[in-house]
Amino acid sequence: MTVFVIDHNKESTEYISQIISSLGLVPKPIRSLAALVTTLQLETPRLIIAEALLPGYDDFIVLQYISDQKELKDIPVIITTSRSKREDILKARQLGAKGFLIKPFDKKALIQQIKLALKIKDLTPAGTSPPSGRTAGTRRQQQKISLNSINNERLKSQILQKIESIPSLPAIVYKVMQLINDENSNASDFEELIVKDQALTARMLRMVNSSFFSLSRKVNSISDAVVYLGHNTIKSLVLGASTSNLFKKSLKVYGYQKEGLWQHANLVAALARYIAKSANLTPSEVENCYVSGLLHDIGKLILGPFVEQYADRFTSAITTNESLSQAEKEILGFDHGEIGGILLTNWKLPKNLVESVTLHHFPANATVNPRETLVISLANNLSNRLGFALEQPVERLNQEQREKAYKRLNLPPDWEEQHHDEITDLANQIMELIENL
Ligand SMILES: [Fe+2]
Ligand SMILES: [Fe+2]
Repeated sequence: MTVFVIDHNKESTEYISQIISSLGLVPKPIRSLAALVTTLQLETPRLIIAEALLPGYDDFIVLQYISDQKELKDIPVIITTSRSKREDILKARQLGAKGFLIKPFDKKALIQQIKLALKIKDLTPAGTSPPSGRTAGTRRQQQKISLNSINNERLKSQILQKIESIPSLPAIVYKVMQLINDENSNASDFEELIVKDQALTARMLRMVNSSFFSLSRKVNSISDAVVYLGHNTIKSLVLGASTSNLFKKSLKVYGYQKEGLWQHANLVAALARYIAKSANLTPSEVENCYVSGLLHDIGKLILGPFVEQYADRFTSAITTNESLSQAEKEILGFDHGEIGGILLTNWKLPKNLVESVTLHHFPANATVNPRETLVISLANNLSNRLGFALEQPVERLNQEQREKAYKRLNLPPDWEEQHHDEITDLANQIMELIENL
């Protein structure tokens, strides 16, 4: 079986070719697109391993070429690249890549991808054949693992496709964000933009006049609301009002009651804003916390149907695994934070929001704005401890972890106890606000 290896770098070509030979396959190094086109006239390979970027050509030129040719499009292609952007992985998948390897990669990773692409269960590298005494049971187990990996790859690409099917945020959200960044904009610019959408206007006025904002007089126009509440709060309100349809879905598989995800999202957003203010984050960081609090579990909307499909395995994984994220990763290959992060990247939202959503269960890994991510993690945990809009399984930080987290925000370790009454009032107000929308 011949495997074409297309890479402009000689060392890379030799490295990949050696591994291919060790599997008993025949590597054929190819250094340019022209050479590939000519060689394909003479021979059809079993597999192509191609560099994403060939100098002088568009990205994924080989993949593009293969997928455009009717008689070639069934040849599996594995992409190698030194870039690790999610968009690249998505684009490669869309174009039909069967595998994706980020350089430098090790032998094991390449062999795994080749197995998946060729759907070969027992391809064994030469010189590492199993000892003759190996039992049939072990081999069966190996095959099972291999089949699981194939299924997992299939699932992963189905999930990534599902992300693409979620509609982008309404154009008005981006326009409002643009206006906020425009120093010359004023309240009537916002009014002009928002009143074009009657449902949004009505929803926003209801939100502004709810007891949550406790304004001294009734607000009748969006421009008044902008003056009263400030640009950043308006941005959060527009986002909240325009995502309600998306979130008002039933997601029983994650333990939410009817509209529970919408309630949970709003509660976490409000608690995040409250914690962020208390920790003296800047006004724009405070509003970022509100937005990422609102969107933190959006990945569950995408993973929900897949989790349902594997409900039995999911339940048993939760009982044996430490966390929901681990169970999701084990069964589906992604956790809901990662999927939410990919969606937000597609929506072109800023990096700090992407990070807070991606890492809300792993705040210690944040690097862009660790404080914002920590706030979301705390708000999520606090919301579950308050007993409103519960999610399943509830991930709780133990007292020591919580105290450490508040300390990192320069807040007293017993901050929650000190603010118990205010937090409970806030949660009740949010539940009321949500009910009126
Ligand atoms: Fe979560
Ligand atoms: Fe959550």
